[in-house]
Amino acid sequence: MKPDVLVVGTLMPYAIGVLEQRYTLHKLSQAEDQEALLRSVGERIRGIATGGRASASLIDSCPNLEIISSFGVGTDGIDVEHAKKRGVPVCNTPDVLNDEVANTAIALTLATIRNLVSYDRYVREGRWAQEGDPPLTRSIAGRRVGIVGLGRIGRTIAEKLAVFHCTIAYFARHERPDAPYRFYADLVELARDSDVLIVIVPGGEATRNLIDRRVIDALGPQGILINVARGSVVDEPALVAALQQGRLGGAGLDVFANEPNVPGALLSMDNVVLLPHQGSATVETRRAMADRMLDNLQAHFEGRPPISPLF
Ligand code: NAP
Ligand code: 8YV
Repeated sequence: MKPDVLVVGTLMPYAIGVLEQRYTLHKLSQAEDQEALLRSVGERIRGIATGGRASASLIDSCPNLEIISSFGVGTDGIDVEHAKKRGVPVCNTPDVLNDEVANTAIALTLATIRNLVSYDRYVREGRWAQEGDPPLTRSIAGRRVGIVGLGRIGRTIAEKLAVFHCTIAYFARHERPDAPYRFYADLVELARDSDVLIVIVPGGEATRNLIDRRVIDALGPQGILINVARGSVVDEPALVAALQQGRLGGAGLDVFANEPNVPGALLSMDNVVLLPHQGSATVETRRAMADRMLDNLQAHFEGRPPISPLF
Protein backbone atom coordinates (compact mmCIF):
# COMPACT_ATOMS: atom_id res chain seq x y z
CA MET A 1 0.00 0.00 0.00
CA LYS A 2 1.44 3.39 -1.02
CA PRO A 3 1.34 6.01 1.74
CA ASP A 4 -1.11 8.89 1.17
CA VAL A 5 0.65 12.23 0.69
CA LEU A 6 -0.95 15.65 0.47
CA VAL A 7 0.60 18.15 -1.96
CA VAL A 8 0.27 21.74 -0.72
CA GLY A 9 0.96 24.60 -3.14
CA THR A 10 2.70 24.24 -6.47
CA LEU A 11 5.60 21.85 -6.94
CA MET A 12 7.65 21.46 -10.12
CA PRO A 13 6.45 18.76 -12.56
CA TYR A 14 9.56 16.63 -11.92
CA ALA A 15 8.74 16.46 -8.19
CA ILE A 16 5.08 15.68 -8.85
CA GLY A 17 6.11 12.90 -11.25
CA VAL A 18 8.28 11.18 -8.64
CA LEU A 19 5.68 11.71 -5.90
CA GLU A 20 3.02 10.12 -8.13
CA GLN A 21 5.15 7.00 -8.59
CA ARG A 22 5.83 6.58 -4.88
CA TYR A 23 2.64 7.72 -3.12
CA THR A 24 -1.09 8.08 -3.43
CA LEU A 25 -1.23 11.82 -4.03
CA HIS A 26 -3.90 14.32 -3.06
CA LYS A 27 -3.36 17.78 -4.55
CA LEU A 28 -4.87 20.44 -2.33
CA SER A 29 -4.47 23.34 -4.78
CA GLN A 30 -6.36 21.43 -7.49
CA ALA A 31 -9.33 20.63 -5.26
CA GLU A 32 -12.48 22.64 -5.99
CA ASP A 33 -13.41 22.44 -2.32
CA GLN A 34 -10.24 22.13 -0.23
CA GLU A 35 -12.09 21.67 3.05
CA ALA A 36 -14.15 18.85 1.55
CA LEU A 37 -10.95 17.18 0.29
CA LEU A 38 -9.37 17.42 3.73
CA ARG A 39 -12.54 16.07 5.38
CA SER A 40 -12.58 13.08 3.04
CA VAL A 41 -8.85 12.15 3.00
CA GLY A 42 -7.38 13.96 6.05
CA GLU A 43 -7.29 10.81 8.22
CA ARG A 44 -5.37 8.90 5.54
CA ILE A 45 -2.66 11.54 5.03
CA ARG A 46 0.72 10.41 6.38
CA GLY A 47 2.94 12.97 4.64
CA ILE A 48 2.74 16.55 3.38
CA ALA A 49 4.88 17.69 0.44
CA THR A 50 4.70 21.48 0.36
CA GLY A 51 6.00 24.42 -1.60
CA GLY A 52 6.50 26.19 1.74
CA ARG A 53 3.12 26.46 3.44
CA ALA A 54 1.40 24.44 6.17
CA SER A 55 -0.83 26.17 8.72
CA ALA A 56 -1.79 24.78 12.13
CA SER A 57 -5.32 24.06 10.90
CA LEU A 58 -4.00 22.19 7.85
CA ILE A 59 -1.75 20.13 10.11
CA ASP A 60 -4.71 19.41 12.37
CA SER A 61 -6.77 18.29 9.38
CA CYS A 62 -4.36 15.36 9.10
CA PRO A 63 -4.50 13.57 12.50
CA ASN A 64 -2.23 10.73 11.33
CA LEU A 65 0.39 12.99 9.78
CA GLU A 66 3.96 11.68 10.20
CA ILE A 67 6.13 14.16 8.27
CA ILE A 68 6.10 17.55 6.51
CA SER A 69 8.67 17.86 3.72
CA SER A 70 9.09 21.38 2.34
CA PHE A 71 10.61 22.51 -0.96
CA GLY A 72 12.85 25.43 0.05
CA VAL A 73 14.97 26.36 3.04
CA GLY A 74 12.74 29.11 4.48
CA THR A 75 10.01 27.68 6.72
CA ASP A 76 8.27 30.93 7.67
CA GLY A 77 5.09 29.74 5.89
CA ILE A 78 4.88 26.61 8.05
CA ASP A 79 3.61 26.55 11.61
CA VAL A 80 6.76 24.75 12.79
CA GLU A 81 5.94 25.16 16.49
CA HIS A 82 2.56 23.55 15.99
CA ALA A 83 4.06 20.66 14.03
CA LYS A 84 6.60 20.21 16.82
CA LYS A 85 3.83 20.11 19.44
CA ARG A 86 2.08 17.49 17.36
CA GLY A 87 5.36 15.53 17.14
CA VAL A 88 5.50 15.87 13.34
CA PRO A 89 9.00 16.44 11.95
CA VAL A 90 9.41 19.30 9.47
CA CYS A 91 12.13 18.98 6.80
CA ASN A 92 13.51 21.65 4.48
CA THR A 93 16.19 21.86 1.78
CA PRO A 94 19.23 23.64 3.27
CA ASP A 95 22.68 23.96 1.68
CA VAL A 96 21.82 22.69 -1.83
CA LEU A 97 20.80 26.25 -2.75
CA ASN A 98 23.53 28.24 -0.98
CA ASP A 99 25.58 28.91 -4.12
CA GLU A 100 22.62 29.85 -6.29
CA VAL A 101 21.06 32.25 -3.82
CA ALA A 102 24.46 33.80 -3.10
CA ASN A 103 25.03 34.22 -6.85
CA THR A 104 21.63 35.91 -7.16
CA ALA A 105 22.46 38.24 -4.27
CA ILE A 106 25.73 39.24 -5.91
CA ALA A 107 24.16 39.65 -9.36
CA LEU A 108 21.49 41.86 -7.78
CA THR A 109 24.14 43.87 -5.95
CA LEU A 110 26.16 44.47 -9.12
CA ALA A 111 23.04 45.22 -11.17
CA THR A 112 21.92 47.79 -8.60
CA ILE A 113 25.19 49.61 -7.95
CA ARG A 114 26.18 49.65 -11.66
CA ASN A 115 22.66 50.65 -12.89
CA LEU A 116 22.67 47.65 -15.26
CA VAL A 117 18.91 47.47 -15.68
CA SER A 118 18.22 51.19 -16.17
CA TYR A 119 21.24 51.46 -18.52
CA ASP A 120 19.94 48.54 -20.54
CA ARG A 121 16.71 50.53 -20.87
CA TYR A 122 18.77 53.62 -21.80
CA VAL A 123 20.23 51.76 -24.79
CA ARG A 124 16.93 50.19 -25.86
CA GLU A 125 15.15 53.57 -25.77
CA GLY A 126 17.77 55.06 -28.10
CA ARG A 127 18.90 57.51 -25.44
CA TRP A 128 22.61 56.58 -25.72
CA ALA A 129 22.71 57.80 -29.33
CA GLN A 130 20.61 60.88 -28.51
CA GLU A 131 21.95 61.94 -25.12
CA GLY A 132 25.43 60.39 -24.94
CA ASP A 133 26.99 58.39 -22.14
CA PRO A 134 24.94 58.11 -18.94
CA PRO A 135 26.44 59.19 -15.57
CA LEU A 136 29.27 57.16 -14.00
CA THR A 137 28.31 54.65 -11.33
CA ARG A 138 30.24 53.45 -8.25
CA SER A 139 32.61 50.46 -8.17
CA ILE A 140 31.92 47.39 -6.05
CA ALA A 141 35.65 47.20 -5.27
CA GLY A 142 36.40 48.51 -1.82
CA ARG A 143 32.70 48.80 -0.87
CA ARG A 144 31.79 48.07 2.74
CA VAL A 145 29.19 45.30 2.64
CA GLY A 146 27.09 44.52 5.70
CA ILE A 147 25.46 41.08 5.70
CA VAL A 148 22.35 40.73 7.82
CA GLY A 149 22.37 37.03 8.76
CA LEU A 150 25.69 35.18 8.43
CA GLY A 151 24.13 31.72 8.12
CA ARG A 152 24.61 29.15 5.36
CA ILE A 153 23.72 31.54 2.53
CA GLY A 154 25.06 34.71 4.18
CA ARG A 155 28.43 33.07 4.66
CA THR A 156 28.49 31.92 1.01
CA ILE A 157 27.73 35.49 -0.09
CA ALA A 158 30.60 36.77 2.08
CA GLU A 159 33.05 34.24 0.63
CA LYS A 160 32.07 35.06 -2.94
CA LEU A 161 32.32 38.82 -2.30
CA ALA A 162 35.98 38.42 -1.36
CA VAL A 163 36.96 38.33 -5.06
CA PHE A 164 35.43 41.79 -5.46
CA HIS A 165 37.71 43.15 -2.70
CA CYS A 166 34.83 44.24 -0.49
CA THR A 167 35.12 44.75 3.26
CA ILE A 168 32.64 42.43 4.94
CA ALA A 169 30.91 42.84 8.30
CA TYR A 170 27.75 41.20 9.61
CA PHE A 171 24.84 41.34 12.04
CA ALA A 172 23.06 38.36 13.63
CA ARG A 173 21.84 37.47 17.13
CA HIS A 174 25.08 35.63 17.86
CA GLU A 175 28.68 36.33 16.96
CA ARG A 176 30.36 33.58 14.89
CA PRO A 177 33.85 33.36 16.34
CA ASP A 178 35.00 31.25 13.35
CA ALA A 179 34.01 33.95 10.84
CA PRO A 180 36.82 36.30 9.72
CA TYR A 181 34.46 39.29 9.53
CA ARG A 182 33.64 42.07 11.99
CA PHE A 183 30.50 41.36 14.02
CA TYR A 184 28.03 44.13 14.86
CA ALA A 185 25.57 43.48 17.68
CA ASP A 186 23.75 46.66 16.62
CA LEU A 187 22.13 46.60 13.17
CA VAL A 188 21.83 50.40 12.93
CA GLU A 189 25.57 50.70 13.53
CA LEU A 190 26.29 48.12 10.85
CA ALA A 191 24.06 50.02 8.40
CA ARG A 192 25.84 53.29 9.28
CA ASP A 193 29.20 51.64 8.52
CA SER A 194 28.05 49.98 5.25
CA ASP A 195 27.74 51.06 1.60
CA VAL A 196 25.68 47.97 0.78
CA LEU A 197 23.43 45.99 3.16
CA ILE A 198 22.52 42.45 2.05
CA VAL A 199 19.62 40.89 3.96
CA ILE A 200 19.56 37.08 4.26
CA VAL A 201 17.87 36.17 7.57
CA PRO A 202 14.81 33.90 7.91
CA GLY A 203 11.36 35.48 7.63
CA GLY A 204 8.67 35.21 10.32
CA GLU A 205 7.68 37.21 13.38
CA ALA A 206 11.19 37.38 14.90
CA THR A 207 12.52 39.35 11.92
CA ARG A 208 9.40 41.27 10.82
CA ASN A 209 10.41 44.81 9.78
CA LEU A 210 13.96 44.25 11.08
CA ILE A 211 15.02 46.64 8.31
CA ASP A 212 13.04 49.64 9.51
CA ARG A 213 13.33 53.38 8.96
CA ARG A 214 16.21 53.70 11.42
CA VAL A 215 18.27 51.09 9.57
CA ILE A 216 17.39 52.58 6.17
CA ASP A 217 18.32 56.09 7.30
CA ALA A 218 21.59 54.80 8.75
CA LEU A 219 22.42 53.29 5.35
CA GLY A 220 21.70 56.69 3.88
CA PRO A 221 21.39 58.48 0.52
CA GLN A 222 24.40 56.70 -1.01
CA GLY A 223 23.52 53.32 0.50
CA ILE A 224 22.17 50.26 -1.32
CA LEU A 225 19.78 47.73 0.22
CA ILE A 226 19.69 44.20 -1.21
CA ASN A 227 16.93 41.86 0.02
CA VAL A 228 17.10 38.16 -0.88
CA ALA A 229 15.55 37.01 2.43
CA ARG A 230 11.80 37.56 2.75
CA GLY A 231 9.69 40.65 2.05
CA SER A 232 8.47 40.63 5.65
CA VAL A 233 11.99 41.44 6.91
CA VAL A 234 11.89 44.93 5.36
CA ASP A 235 9.38 47.63 6.32
CA GLU A 236 8.25 48.03 2.70
CA PRO A 237 6.36 51.37 3.07
CA ALA A 238 9.43 52.81 4.89
CA LEU A 239 11.67 51.56 2.05
CA VAL A 240 9.45 53.07 -0.65
CA ALA A 241 9.29 56.40 1.21
CA ALA A 242 13.08 56.51 1.66
CA LEU A 243 13.63 55.83 -2.06
CA GLN A 244 11.04 58.44 -3.04
CA GLN A 245 12.63 61.04 -0.77
CA GLY A 246 16.23 60.27 -1.76
CA ARG A 247 17.10 59.09 1.76
CA LEU A 248 18.32 55.75 0.31
CA GLY A 249 20.55 55.40 -2.75
CA GLY A 250 18.99 52.30 -4.31
CA ALA A 251 17.61 48.82 -3.73
CA GLY A 252 17.84 45.37 -5.30
CA LEU A 253 14.83 43.29 -4.29
CA ASP A 254 14.15 39.61 -4.95
CA VAL A 255 11.37 39.31 -2.37
CA PHE A 256 8.34 41.38 -1.39
CA ALA A 257 5.85 41.64 1.45
CA ASN A 258 2.84 40.52 -0.63
CA GLU A 259 4.20 38.45 -3.53
CA PRO A 260 3.56 38.48 -6.43
CA ASN A 261 2.37 42.05 -5.84
CA VAL A 262 5.03 44.77 -5.84
CA PRO A 263 4.45 48.34 -4.61
CA GLY A 264 3.57 50.38 -7.72
CA ALA A 265 5.91 53.22 -6.73
CA LEU A 266 8.96 50.97 -7.20
CA LEU A 267 8.13 50.19 -10.83
CA SER A 268 9.21 53.54 -12.22
CA MET A 269 12.39 53.95 -10.13
CA ASP A 270 15.67 53.72 -12.08
CA ASN A 271 17.71 53.07 -8.93
CA VAL A 272 15.77 49.91 -8.09
CA VAL A 273 16.20 46.39 -9.53
CA LEU A 274 13.27 44.02 -9.09
CA LEU A 275 13.26 40.23 -9.42
CA PRO A 276 10.28 37.84 -9.10
CA HIS A 277 11.71 35.72 -6.22
CA GLN A 278 14.48 34.15 -8.32
CA GLY A 279 17.06 33.39 -5.60
CA SER A 280 17.25 29.64 -6.21
CA ALA A 281 15.43 29.54 -9.54
CA THR A 282 17.72 27.60 -11.88
CA VAL A 283 17.04 24.19 -13.39
CA GLU A 284 20.00 22.67 -11.54
CA THR A 285 19.27 24.09 -8.10
CA ARG A 286 15.52 23.55 -8.21
CA ARG A 287 16.19 19.93 -9.19
CA ALA A 288 18.54 19.53 -6.22
CA MET A 289 15.93 21.08 -3.92
CA ALA A 290 13.24 18.75 -5.31
CA ASP A 291 15.50 15.74 -4.79
CA ARG A 292 16.12 16.76 -1.18
CA MET A 293 12.40 17.25 -0.56
CA LEU A 294 11.72 13.80 -2.08
CA ASP A 295 14.63 12.14 -0.24
CA ASN A 296 13.38 13.42 3.11
CA LEU A 297 9.97 11.83 2.51
CA GLN A 298 11.44 8.61 1.15
CA ALA A 299 13.82 8.20 4.07
CA HIS A 300 10.94 8.56 6.50
CA PHE A 301 8.67 6.07 4.73
CA GLU A 302 11.53 3.57 4.49
CA GLY A 303 12.04 3.79 8.24
CA ARG A 304 15.25 5.87 8.11
CA PRO A 305 15.71 9.31 9.71
CA PRO A 306 15.05 12.17 7.24
CA ILE A 307 18.15 13.92 5.88
CA SER A 308 17.41 17.50 6.83
CA PRO A 309 14.84 17.77 9.64
CA LEU A 310 14.53 21.13 11.42
CA PHE A 311 14.35 19.47 14.84
P1 NAP B 1 20.45 29.99 8.20
O1 NAP B 1 21.64 29.17 7.86
O2 NAP B 1 19.54 29.51 9.25
O3 NAP B 1 20.98 31.44 8.58
C1 NAP B 1 20.15 32.41 9.13
C2 NAP B 1 21.01 33.56 9.67
O4 NAP B 1 20.13 34.57 10.17
C3 NAP B 1 21.94 33.19 10.81
O5 NAP B 1 23.09 33.97 10.70
C4 NAP B 1 21.16 33.61 12.05
O6 NAP B 1 22.09 33.88 13.08
C5 NAP B 1 20.44 34.83 11.54
N1 NAP B 1 19.18 35.09 12.22
C6 NAP B 1 18.17 34.19 12.45
N2 NAP B 1 17.18 34.79 13.14
C7 NAP B 1 17.56 36.06 13.35
C8 NAP B 1 16.95 37.16 14.03
N3 NAP B 1 15.76 37.04 14.63
N4 NAP B 1 17.62 38.32 14.05
C9 NAP B 1 18.83 38.44 13.46
N5 NAP B 1 19.45 37.44 12.82
C10 NAP B 1 18.82 36.27 12.77
O7 NAP B 1 19.53 30.23 6.92
P2 NAP B 1 19.94 30.21 5.38
O8 NAP B 1 19.92 28.83 4.86
O9 NAP B 1 21.15 31.04 5.20
O10 NAP B 1 18.65 30.96 4.76
C11 NAP B 1 18.28 32.24 5.22
C12 NAP B 1 16.94 32.66 4.65
O11 NAP B 1 17.09 33.07 3.30
C13 NAP B 1 15.86 31.58 4.56
O12 NAP B 1 15.22 31.37 5.80
C14 NAP B 1 14.92 32.15 3.52
O13 NAP B 1 13.92 32.94 4.12
C15 NAP B 1 15.82 33.05 2.66
N6 NAP B 1 15.97 32.49 1.30
C16 NAP B 1 15.54 33.20 0.23
C17 NAP B 1 15.69 32.68 -1.04
C18 NAP B 1 15.24 33.43 -2.25
O14 NAP B 1 14.86 32.79 -3.21
N7 NAP B 1 15.28 34.74 -2.24
C19 NAP B 1 16.25 31.43 -1.23
C20 NAP B 1 16.70 30.73 -0.11
C21 NAP B 1 16.55 31.27 1.16
P3 NAP B 1 21.68 33.91 14.64
O15 NAP B 1 20.95 32.63 14.90
O16 NAP B 1 22.98 34.07 15.33
O17 NAP B 1 20.82 35.11 14.76
C1 8YV C 1 12.19 29.15 -3.26
C2 8YV C 1 13.16 30.17 -1.12
O1 8YV C 1 11.88 30.10 -4.22
O2 8YV C 1 14.29 28.29 -0.25
C3 8YV C 1 13.65 29.31 -0.01
O3 8YV C 1 13.43 29.69 1.16
O4 8YV C 1 12.67 31.22 -0.91
C4 8YV C 1 13.34 29.74 -2.52
O5 8YV C 1 14.45 28.93 -2.69
C5 8YV C 1 10.93 28.82 -2.59
O6 8YV C 1 11.11 28.06 -1.46
C6 8YV C 1 10.05 28.07 -3.57
O7 8YV C 1 8.91 27.64 -2.97
